[in-house]
Amino acid sequence: MANSTSVPLTSLSADSPRQWQLRPHLFQHRLHLDPRFARDGLSALIERYPREHYAIVHMGEQGAGGRRVWREGDIGALSGQQVLDAIEHGRLWLNLRNAPEVVPQLRELVTGIFTEAHALAPPVSSYDHLMGILVSSPGAQVYYHADLPGQGLLQLQGRKRIYIYPPRAPFLTEEGLENIALKQLEVGLRYDPAFDAEAEVFELEPGQGLFWPLNAPHRIENHDCLNVSMTLEYWTQDIRRKHIVNLANGILRHNFGHAPRSRAITGGAFHAKTALQALWRRSGRLDVLRKHARPIDFRLDPDTPGGIIDLGSALANEGHAA
Ligand SMILES: [Fe+2]
Repeated sequence: MANSTSVPLTSLSADSPRQWQLRPHLFQHRLHLDPRFARDGLSALIERYPREHYAIVHMGEQGAGGRRVWREGDIGALSGQQVLDAIEHGRLWLNLRNAPEVVPQLRELVTGIFTEAHALAPPVSSYDHLMGILVSSPGAQVYYHADLPGQGLLQLQGRKRIYIYPPRAPFLTEEGLENIALKQLEVGLRYDPAFDAEAEVFELEPGQGLFWPLNAPHRIENHDCLNVSMTLEYWTQDIRRKHIVNLANGILRHNFGHAPRSRAITGGAFHAKTALQALWRRSGRLDVLRKHARPIDFRLDPDTPGGIIDLGSALANEGHAA
């Protein structure tokens, strides 16, 4: 399938990027038919994945204050099939990050999707595309959050419900966005169940995909089945500039007690902000804010699908999404 150039991968067209900037854009794809994403293909992919490129997270019991305790672990000596069994029977998600770096042949899929959306050249001109494969347990959730780059999601196996909220107050505030840019902690947004009334809700099935407006908050609930999804990320010059403004406005608000009013991405104020955030990056002050990495504190149990073996580092962190 990947070698075929005559049959499109998706139903995306030149209108798609304009549409997904206005509201979530549902499209069809055929990547779920690619054997590389069927069970045997995924199993082989898991077995060749380097440690530094994957994360496996156990969504544990309720922690203090009713929050879920999420712990990061290691797949240990399990085969790919055993890892899939563990996820199918447990409360886990596995994020295979930067898949085209691990399997260069997957790069052509990413390029193909953005080509079909006419998003490689002006007026969209996206770049720095990332693709990951997310394998998650029946009933798993991704909590309410927003992402800084452009985002897409293609469903490969299983079914999930995704709620997408408008990228404006009260769903998303400027301060919330600044905090995400400053701390790289995407789940710092305030969520109110009443927001759901204005969400667009999709029951995503294999063969369906979504792109949505920049920074639109979203949350996900898996149905009662193993889920495999492809995540896409992209940047454009506008997105990069908005990110610079978020960072600089966050620095101004938190460190100089000045709540910025301008979100301009051109002109003198923008250039001053570019310089300010670059100074902070170089000085290492942003790195200090971003030290929130989880320690590896469990290994999958080879004898009990879905079970984990405590490695005893006892530093479980409170819940945070992919
Ligand atoms: Fe997300």
